[in-house]
Amino acid sequence: MDLKEFLKRVPIFSDFSEEELNKLLEIAKKKDFKKDTVIFQKDETGNFFFLICSGKIKVILETEEGKEGILSILYPTEFFGEMSLLDGEPRSATVVALEDTTVMIINREDFLNLLYNHPQIALKILRTLSLRLRKANRQIETLMFLDAPGRIARVIIDIAMERGHPIKNGILIDLDFTRQELGNIVGISRETAIRVLKSFEDEGIIDIKKNHILIRDISKLREKIY
Ligand code: CMP
Repeated sequence: MDLKEFLKRVPIFSDFSEEELNKLLEIAKKKDFKKDTVIFQKDETGNFFFLICSGKIKVILETEEGKEGILSILYPTEFFGEMSLLDGEPRSATVVALEDTTVMIINREDFLNLLYNHPQIALKILRTLSLRLRKANRQIETLMFLDAPGRIARVIIDIAMERGHPIKNGILIDLDFTRQELGNIVGISRETAIRVLKSFEDEGIIDIKKNHILIRDISKLREKIY
């Protein structure tokens, strides 16, 4: 992958000139992680900012018994690891590669200098943090007020709104993680997630193919929420 061409497509660097991109390439390093590798653990000291070049990652919290809650799934051009660099606290969550993933890393000092010298990057990062807080609030609302069918309906609709493909007979979503992980986003067990998905399928609301869900009746799916 040509890192410079890639960086031109990254929203936080989209205003950069050729010269600024060249400078950025001098301070950035590429790193590869195999599927399922822990990129870093919650509570570790954070020394690097990460930008996803290819692949995808999940941001998770775990219990001592190994139960997992997914805070977010992030894709190419998105970033993570900024929180510890900004507030000086340990890592707020664990990050795991969901597939073979390549990231670009920048160390703390270079990252903070980038923000001082390019306030537009700081503003874009603030905007992203604000959007992530909105999503987190929505997730809290889901966990506080919705039952299992409501939680599954909401997560499917959210994925459809973000990255669904409208087709002739509905909206197709790539489920690029497992059904267990779908449950982990909304705090329900794998068994319950599978049972609820099956009941939606029996009611003709969705069709489940191996790695895809086709939403056939989005109004009925919305009705499951309240
Ligand atoms: P940091 O705390 O350094 O390490 C964990 C990272 O996960 C954190 O920075 C953010 O980049 C990311 N992160 C934590 N919570 C969320 C969330 N709710 N949504 C999206 N990303 C998150």
